[in-house]
Amino acid sequence: MAQFPSDFDWGFATASYQIEGSASLGGRGPSIWDTFCKLPGKIRDGSSGEVATDSVRLYKEDVALLKSYNVKAYRFSISWSRMIPLGGRDDPVNPEGIAFYRSLLEELLRNGITPYVTLYHWDLPQGLHDRYGGWLDKEEIVKDYVNYAKLCFDSFGHLVKNWITHNEPWVISCLGYQKGVFAPGHESNTEPWIVAHNAILAHAYAVKLYREQYKPVQGGQIGITLDCHWQIPYDDSPENIEAAKKGIDFKLGRFADPIYKGYYPERVKKIIDDRLPEFTEEELAVVKGSSDFFGLNTYTSQLVQEGGTDETNGYITVGHTRPDGTQLGTVGAKNICVVNPPGFRSLLNYLWKTYQKPIYVTENGFAVKDEHKMTISEALRDKDRIEYFEGYANAMLQAVTEDGVPVKGYFGWSLLDNFEWADGYEARFGVTYVDYATQKRYPKESAQFLSKWFPEHTSA
Ligand code: NOJ
Repeated sequence: MAQFPSDFDWGFATASYQIEGSASLGGRGPSIWDTFCKLPGKIRDGSSGEVATDSVRLYKEDVALLKSYNVKAYRFSISWSRMIPLGGRDDPVNPEGIAFYRSLLEELLRNGITPYVTLYHWDLPQGLHDRYGGWLDKEEIVKDYVNYAKLCFDSFGHLVKNWITHNEPWVISCLGYQKGVFAPGHESNTEPWIVAHNAILAHAYAVKLYREQYKPVQGGQIGITLDCHWQIPYDDSPENIEAAKKGIDFKLGRFADPIYKGYYPERVKKIIDDRLPEFTEEELAVVKGSSDFFGLNTYTSQLVQEGGTDETNGYITVGHTRPDGTQLGTVGAKNICVVNPPGFRSLLNYLWKTYQKPIYVTENGFAVKDEHKMTISEALRDKDRIEYFEGYANAMLQAVTEDGVPVKGYFGWSLLDNFEWADGYEARFGVTYVDYATQKRYPKESAQFLSKWFPEHTSA
């Protein structure tokens, strides 16, 4: 039977604001998501991450669940405003926050689970947003982000060997500053390019610091996580073939090309023109080559047609209905939930060919349609999620064993049902059902499936 090599890591991923709760406890300062959730109409069910899955209090239960699922690794993110409540380099740090993440890390390691730690999963300290506009101010945000990263390396670097600087900067910039559907809710056609540029710089300077001062002693690796859905031309017309390439450049190349190759993609430059900031030579030297691996979040594939009004994707139109009326795959709770394993295999091949870096799939998962309306026992029989994971895991195995793509790890999204941003609690991505009234956790059938599948498909 085909198998991953013995050092292949697999597990589940989560993010601070989506699971931690205790948003106003333990000395944590507010983030832009706490503020955003209070704006009327922004969150589908009017909820917030104030309590979420209460994981600051229940972290030992979460680790016990991970252990029961036979995982080798766990990816979680640190809340910046739990570490430094106001966020800035001259602001006080929060000892309770440091103690919490240290306890979580120690609990993971005691259970033989390797931590993968994300520094920034969208929860910017509100203090920095108020003080200077957060991601919009290059000089300030780069310094404050690097200072925050340094605090994390100092506090946890002896326990963490796998660091991820940012999660999905496309979402930070496009949904936060262009469409306004995520925090901080701005709608602009210049800001997203400034924010994205500054996020790349903050990432790169944090990596420089890690490589110079921590890696030689701590011996870990550091990189970034980007998101992309595989882009399939809607038909074989030359304009739709070109549109699919443009879709990839606008979603992924705009970050990956500077970081791995040292320049912005031509297709992006052509459309964004002088709204696209430039790197100085000194900055470029820091940005180019600033990721030890390729962190990939991917959920589905999209059929792409040229034309449309959406600049976030380069004026293409995406969907999942083929010209003959059939769907790309089983459809779930959101437009990113459509089961299409062949697209995943194509994407992995594309990334390896284009960027030549080992790949970690830092997120991949599926929200079953209407699961939030089901009874607990109905929700636990999540056959569409099993179909998804079985298809994606096998496609990845083929990419590794047949195509020679070096995928080094895989994280299902998510360990738990949790706060799904603008969808509130109305989309459930967990392999564990969370009854929010009691905070009781119930493993779904997909959790059992993956707990067996990965050990069986990884050599001893
Ligand atoms: C990607 C994001 O990183 C994560 O926070 C989110 O919950 C999942 N996609 C599902 O939408």
